[in-house]
Amino acid sequence: MSINDILSVQGMLPFLLDKDAAGNITVHSSLESTNKTAKELAITGAENGTIVIADCQTAGKGRYGRSFFSPPGHGIYMSFVLRPLQRHWVGSPTLVTTYAAVSVCEAIEATTDKMPQIKWVNDIFLDGKKICGILTEAVTDIESGKMQWIVVGIGINFITPNAGFPEEIKNIAGSIFSEGKPTITRNKLAAEIINRMLVFESQWGSKPILAEYKKRLMMIGKRVVITGLNETFEATAIDIDDIGRLIVKKDNGEIISLSAGEVSLGK
Ligand code: BTN
Repeated sequence: MSINDILSVQGMLPFLLDKDAAGNITVHSSLESTNKTAKELAITGAENGTIVIADCQTAGKGRYGRSFFSPPGHGIYMSFVLRPLQRHWVGSPTLVTTYAAVSVCEAIEATTDKMPQIKWVNDIFLDGKKICGILTEAVTDIESGKMQWIVVGIGINFITPNAGFPEEIKNIAGSIFSEGKPTITRNKLAAEIINRMLVFESQWGSKPILAEYKKRLMMIGKRVVITGLNETFEATAIDIDDIGRLIVKKDNGEIISLSAGEVSLGK
């Protein structure tokens, strides 16, 4: 399948709630990684709300040093430079990832009839396949403890390439429109995500983001496998705490909160 909507600021403009935001968006046909470019911009002082989008990435980055498959014409690869002001974000970039995951789900739900789900902490699934990954990178000033900037990178598989996904991800990767023609453009979905991401500070106080996150979480009450730095173990996922950590009950009854590590659904 191929797609004929070209990602562009002009194409997003009609769907942007804040038309001024358009001035902070750049769309590239190809970049190594939108996170890399956004970080370079952040280091040189880019303002809160700077957005870098690419039609394809030649070195798209995933978590744990993995690569993120980013072919031309099939996805949306976007990174936001955010400079949070409020205290609760400091020390918890996880919350920003949480907010981004809800934003992507809501944008998909608002523009399609699809009901995506979240796999803690940063993956979005549809019909059992991963359609979106989120990579948050932050820099904190060591002396003041203040977070200087956060780059939130969102990679969405919009449609499935004709040749399918590469061998190594073909069993887990999917796309929003895996079958049939897309019913929306990439520009529309990108703008809907931008509309939500740009109001993250005001929304956090006024909207139950964690409840929205939890509502879509695939793993509550389920067996999960946790792969940490030093050990791998099974547990039962029971909740999310107020800073977005996954609370699990180990088989010995111990309850722990996870802020990092990889979690997959158990058997
Ligand atoms: C993951 O699933 O491990 C996270 C994937 C994050 C991919 C996005 S695509 C846009 C941004 N630029 C990157 O290089 N990575 C993120």
